[in-house]
Amino acid sequence: MPTISNKGIHMPESPIRKLVPFAEEAQKQGKHIFYLNIGQPDIKTPQVALDAIKNSNLETLAYSRSEGSESYRTKIAGYYKKHSIDVTHNDIIVTTGGSEALLFAFGSIMDEGDEIIIPEPFYANYNGFSTASGVNVIPVISKIEDNFALPPIEAFEKLITPKTKAILICNPGNPTGYLYSKEEIKKLAAIVKKHDLFLIADEVYREFVYDGVEHYSILQEAGLEDHAIIIDSVSKRYSMCGARIGYLVSKNKAVITTALKFAQARLSPPTLAQIASEAALDTPQRYFDDVKDEYVKRRNTLITELEKIEGVKVAKPNGAFYCIAELPVKNTDNFAKWLLESFDYNNNTVMVAPAAGFYSTPGVGLNQIRIAYVLNEESLKTSVKILAEALKVYKD
Ligand SMILES: Cc1ncc(COP(=O)(O)O)c(C=O)c1O
Repeated sequence: MPTISNKGIHMPESPIRKLVPFAEEAQKQGKHIFYLNIGQPDIKTPQVALDAIKNSNLETLAYSRSEGSESYRTKIAGYYKKHSIDVTHNDIIVTTGGSEALLFAFGSIMDEGDEIIIPEPFYANYNGFSTASGVNVIPVISKIEDNFALPPIEAFEKLITPKTKAILICNPGNPTGYLYSKEEIKKLAAIVKKHDLFLIADEVYREFVYDGVEHYSILQEAGLEDHAIIIDSVSKRYSMCGARIGYLVSKNKAVITTALKFAQARLSPPTLAQIASEAALDTPQRYFDDVKDEYVKRRNTLITELEKIEGVKVAKPNGAFYCIAELPVKNTDNFAKWLLESFDYNNNTVMVAPAAGFYSTPGVGLNQIRIAYVLNEESLKTSVKILAEALKVYKD
């Protein structure tokens, strides 16, 4: 029998998707499930993007350039300029989602056995991309009590070894919803410069910031040009998860030249989706204002309702559309399964993501869940009611 690679054996399962068979079974039994487990927004894609697909009278759906079409990259550079980030189309590589941008970034800067420091809890697929790249994740724990703010910079410094190549942050954060302040970015900038490391910032939720606070990008920080790599995506910004378009942005020429070789190996990012994504850049500001208002309302409702449940602790997010809640249970893996298999409230139940999969330190986050507030306010209220009723009867 031919054997599977060690890498393959060690690829982690997605903590978000592993409960899917239980959800399918619950659905077969006729239960209605409120899906709070996955960041698939129910928001409509901008009409300009959909129209661009309808109106594209292509005769051949050809490859595009490996780095993405020049007109699209030029327009992306214009978007960044509006957000005080000074880049040109030459600093951008269009990828198949932010996911591929992460893979290209890891592949371009790290070798087998190198280390990347990541504040946890973090986007679970960072574990998968690290395993695929043979890279070791070194976690720094951020705490619910601090709203998941940046851990003290000394905690990062202690972990730096000759193998450390980069620090990776997600800003604003999935799964925490925490938005790093300018001061926190400056602290990270100082440490990566001091130790000559890369700073990768996953900014795919950069437009989703609330309460009048501004997003501060690592590429707004002067002097970080050789260190900074931004990961970006159209998936959430324009509710275009299925387009599979993202980009890697860096002023470091060697990073771009290297990432381009990875891009050439997979030939090109999706051509039709680039047309839609380029058009999406013309989305009127009103669309974003409305979407943001909607998420703020949802967040407020969700947090207010969760805080009413005895024994539940929740961090207040000011970005993205996720929050971490601590529940009065020992193991949310079992609880989340039980919600689908054995519980219903008026024939309804909820699907949540157990948070342990967002940590790489074993045993941490076992009593936490991640909730994505991608459903309307009414559904969120019902979902929290279901959660509250479930907690009344659940036995660990
Ligand atoms: C923090 C973060 N980064 C990257 C991605 C990858 O997104 P995509 O490949 O759809 O651009 C996601 C998707 O949920 C995410 O939450």
